[in-house]
Amino acid sequence: MSEPSSGTRFLHAIEMGLGAWQWGDRVVWQYGHGYGEGSVHEAFKVSVNEGIRFIDTAELYGNGLSERLLGRFLKDTDQPVLIATKFFPWPWRFYKGAIPHALKASLARMNVESVDLYQIHWPNPLLSTDSLMEGLAECVKSGLTRTVGVSNFGQTRMLAAYSALAQHNVPLASNQVHYSLLSRAVEKNGTLARCKELGIRLIAYSPIEKGLLAGKYSALNPPPGARARNYASLLPKIQPLLKLMTEIGQDHGGKSNAQVALNWVICKGGLPIPGAKDAVQAQENAGALGWRLTEEEVTRLDEASDRIVE
Ligand SMILES: NC(=O)c1ccc[n+]([C@@H]2O[C@H](COP(=O)([O-])OP(=O)(O)OC[C@H]3O[C@@H](n4cnc5c(N)ncnc54)[C@H](OP(=O)(O)O)[C@@H]3O)[C@@H](O)[C@H]2O)c1
Repeated sequence: MSEPSSGTRFLHAIEMGLGAWQWGDRVVWQYGHGYGEGSVHEAFKVSVNEGIRFIDTAELYGNGLSERLLGRFLKDTDQPVLIATKFFPWPWRFYKGAIPHALKASLARMNVESVDLYQIHWPNPLLSTDSLMEGLAECVKSGLTRTVGVSNFGQTRMLAAYSALAQHNVPLASNQVHYSLLSRAVEKNGTLARCKELGIRLIAYSPIEKGLLAGKYSALNPPPGARARNYASLLPKIQPLLKLMTEIGQDHGGKSNAQVALNWVICKGGLPIPGAKDAVQAQENAGALGWRLTEEEVTRLDEASDRIVE
C-alpha cells in the first residue's frame, strides 16, 4: 500500500459525497417531471448541513445545467464545498488545449475560480491516454484544479494514466467507477485493490444501483424510464439480497436498505457518491454515516450478491 500523495490526501478523508447527475438530466432521470431545481437545491442543502460537502458533477450532466445549478447553490451557502467535475472526451476534442479550455467553461458555469478534482469522464481510444493526461496536468499547473482523476478506466488504462501523469509530477487522485452490491466488477478484477495499493481514491458511482438497492422497485414495480429496460433481467433476482439488507439494517437500529448499500461501499474502501433528487433522499443517504457494518455482515452481503451477479 502506498500513502496517497499530500495533494490528494483530502480525498481519502472524505467518506461520502453527493452525485449531481440528477440535476438537470431529463434522459435518464426525468428532471422537470416530479422534481426540479427547488428539490435538488433542498438535497444539496440537507447534504451540506449533514457534513457531506463533496459534490460530483460533469459538463455533460443536463448539458451544463448541473454545473450551473451547483454554481447557484454555492452562492447560497457559507459552508466549504469541494467540487469534482468532468471533461467528456468527444472525438473532435483532440486539439491541444481542449481540456483546460473545457475546464474554464465549467468554472464559468459554476462561477468559481478552480475545482478540487477534474476527471476524464470516459476513456476514448481515439484520444491517447498520454495526451489526455498532458491536458489534465496543464489544468493542475495553471491552478484551475487542485487534483485530477479518471473515470471508467479499466486497470490497464488507469495504470497508463498513473504513469503518464507521473511524467508531469502530478499524482492520479482517483478513478470513478460503477461499484455497488449489484455491480462488483472493480472488486473482482482487482481494480479496487490496485487503487488502494497506489493511493488512488476509488469513487463509487451508482452505489444504490440507480435506486434498485433502496428496495422500492421490483419486477412488478419497475423504475420509470430507461432504467426499467436496463434492469429488466436483474429486477426479478434481487429480492433475497434486499431481504438480507433489511434484516441487517434492523440489527443496526433500523437502517434502511439505501443506508446499508452505501455503508457496504464504505466498508469496502470506496467513496460512494449517491445521487439524490430531494431532501428526503439526501437525509436518508446521510444516515449511511456514523456506523459500520461488521465484517461478518459484509461477508453475508457479498455472498448474497454473488448469488445474483457474477
Ligand atoms: N462517471 C460516470 O460515468 C458516472 C455514471 C453514473 C453516475 N455517476 C455519478 O454518480 C452519482 C450517483 O450515481 P447514480 O445517480 O447513477 O445512481 P445512485 O446514486 O445509485 O442512484 C440515485 C437514484 O436512486 C434513487 N435514490 C437515491 N437515494 C434514495 C433513497 N434514499 N431512497 C430511495 N431512492 C433513492 C433516486 O432515483 P429515483 O427516486 O428516481 O428512484 C436517485 O436519483 C451520479 O449522480 C453522478 O454524479 C457517474
